[in-house]
Amino acid sequence: MEVILTMIRVLFVCLGNICRSPMAEAIFRDLVNKENLSEKITVDSAGTSDWHVGKQPHEGTRKILDDKNISYENIRARQVSEDDRDTFDYIIAMDEQNITDLNNLLIKDHKNIKLAKLTDYIDQADEENIPDPYFTGDFSYTYQLIYAGVKNLLTHIKKTYHI
Ligand code: 4NP
Repeated sequence: MEVILTMIRVLFVCLGNICRSPMAEAIFRDLVNKENLSEKITVDSAGTSDWHVGKQPHEGTRKILDDKNISYENIRARQVSEDDRDTFDYIIAMDEQNITDLNNLLIKDHKNIKLAKLTDYIDQADEENIPDPYFTGDFSYTYQLIYAGVKNLLTHIKKTYHI
């Protein structure tokens, strides 16, 4: 029997691509690797702004990922581009402003792409947006929310694609 391998591509998006979306990328990749799904699911992250292009994640994000023993090697900030619309199956934003900005960049929810907020994947979320630790300083709370969201997102993808 022929086995058809489709790669499922996931992009996490925030404003600066140094705090929340690289955290989501690192945690999600860690889960994907632990479930031996790295041949089937790829992950990346980007910012709606170009403010921190080329930088590694914020030290608060690096510290909490170090504490959890999750790699962020090779993660560098980049700005989202129109090409991402044709590349990714899921574009997962951290807040409502990201969705507005992505819509302005012509990246809209349509049949070939799922544009959603990470909080859509959190059961009984107290938050409608992932709080930005760049401003709140609370990387731990943001980590908890992002972990809950990406775990459920992975469950959803596994069910959807029967993997
Ligand atoms: P992020 O957080 O969108 O989670 O990466 C921010 C990072 C930098 C800035 C704002 C938010 N900034 O104003 O430079």
